[in-house]
Amino acid sequence: MKHPETPVSRPKTIPDLWQAQQPIVMLTAYDASFARMADAAGVDVLLVGDSLGMVVQGQRDTLAVTLDDMVYHTQLVRRGAPQALIVADMPFLTDNTIESTLHHAGRLIQEAGADMVKIEGGAVKAPIIRALTDAGIPVCVHLGLLPQRVRQLGGYRVQGRGAEDASRIIHDAELLADAGAALMVVECVPNGLGTRIAQSVAVPVIGIGAGAGVDGQVLVMHDLLGMNPHPARFVRDFLRGRGSILQAMQAYGEAVRNRSFPAEHEGFV
Ligand code: KIV
Repeated sequence: MKHPETPVSRPKTIPDLWQAQQPIVMLTAYDASFARMADAAGVDVLLVGDSLGMVVQGQRDTLAVTLDDMVYHTQLVRRGAPQALIVADMPFLTDNTIESTLHHAGRLIQEAGADMVKIEGGAVKAPIIRALTDAGIPVCVHLGLLPQRVRQLGGYRVQGRGAEDASRIIHDAELLADAGAALMVVECVPNGLGTRIAQSVAVPVIGIGAGAGVDGQVLVMHDLLGMNPHPARFVRDFLRGRGSILQAMQAYGEAVRNRSFPAEHEGFV
């Protein structure tokens, strides 16, 4: 998608994502009904995010989410959207060693029906990403703000504002691309840095709070539906002024594809 042109058909496989001719539309889903609707609305990739800890389970962060939780919710999403491209998050502490990560990721693929697993982290995760890729498990890496590190970070803060930090994130992206990453999510970085990351790697880069200069966007479904009482700056309520959830999801897809979402002010400098 590095050179978006006129709208074409939706990507249906991971190689399709690399060839996509328009921005990739990703949305979280945690159950069958919403997964079915998002798929019907034309969302390209469903993410079973560990954000389910917050928006479904009511936890204060994602750290309490277990692998069994992820397997269960991924199974529900797969049932609702049998043909969709599904990415499932590796929850906190399930991706620390190569052996345990292979085992846990294997469950998400074999037992739960995910197409790809998502791993938070930078350069330190390169050997794990290489091992998963060599084993035939596609990996989406998550860079920038890492919600599983919220206790270390002291909050959900914008990352990569300083030159050194920005260079480190770009370096990590390049390293993880070399390690075989099939997709990247970049969260909460200045708009300009989001664009630089997308230009630095051939891997499609999906942004959340990373500006419009990336290869696609992801939102948490509850944010898109205006259910977050304290929405982040990068959130837009797509249900506002629309008659149904389906219409809200369709509007999100259209706004991502025509790059009217996110607007400049819905990102960071
Ligand atoms: O868990 C999640 O929903 C995510 C998105 C915020 C990208 O990782």
